[in-house]
Amino acid sequence: MKYLRNVTMCIAAFAMVISFSGPAFAESVNGSYEENNPDKGGIMKSSDKIESATVYVLLPLPYAQNALEPVISENTISFHYGKHYKGYVDNLNKLVAGTELAGMSLEEIIIATSGKADKTAIFNNASQAWNHAFYWNSLAPEGGGEVPSTLKVKIEASFGSVDACKKELAAAATSQFGSGWAWLVLDGDKLKVVKTGNADSPLTKGMKPLLTIDVWEHAYYLDYQNRRADYVNAVIDKLINWDFAADNLG
Ligand SMILES: [Fe+2]
Repeated sequence: MKYLRNVTMCIAAFAMVISFSGPAFAESVNGSYEENNPDKGGIMKSSDKIESATVYVLLPLPYAQNALEPVISENTISFHYGKHYKGYVDNLNKLVAGTELAGMSLEEIIIATSGKADKTAIFNNASQAWNHAFYWNSLAPEGGGEVPSTLKVKIEASFGSVDACKKELAAAATSQFGSGWAWLVLDGDKLKVVKTGNADSPLTKGMKPLLTIDVWEHAYYLDYQNRRADYVNAVIDKLINWDFAADNLG
């Protein structure tokens, strides 16, 4: 799965400048990075960072907006990606412009602003930008199914079985009070399921996220109304991207 590396690089390079390719990457919200940058083979290079202006950009959605149907509708993805996610990225750009944080990676901003009362808005928007980029890749149109062996061994060591892991993940996602996220993380050598409220992230606790499920109402309300458990169980059964989680182990 090459795109894990692309995701990692995209996230790390969120503060890249876009002048290397004119507005192409900024416009790639409506297309893939590969389509807009065929000369780069789909890989963002650190050498792309060449001029002074900085802007955080949307990570391209790794599938079509209707590709997760019938579990998640095109309507939901359209609003979730095009309004909510875009809103976080746009707000972040406004909030960090001209500050010492401009040009930092999202991860650096999240760590630098976590727990600081005067930086709450920046933390919330940076962390939500990161969380959503990670969420898009935690899902796949042909998701669910078999867990890659490298990950399966670690899951069995930590939870006893894949089914036990899935149950714990579903329980965390359904029991998170209010808005938030459920995560499978690597904490030291052990896999854990954790949940975070609002924009918070396991990154602030030194854990390594492997996959996540968004349980903000905007992630499911158009399709499931208040039936969060139905959304969570369908995502785990049909969409969860175990290959992405396995790649994140490395
Ligand atoms: Fe969301």
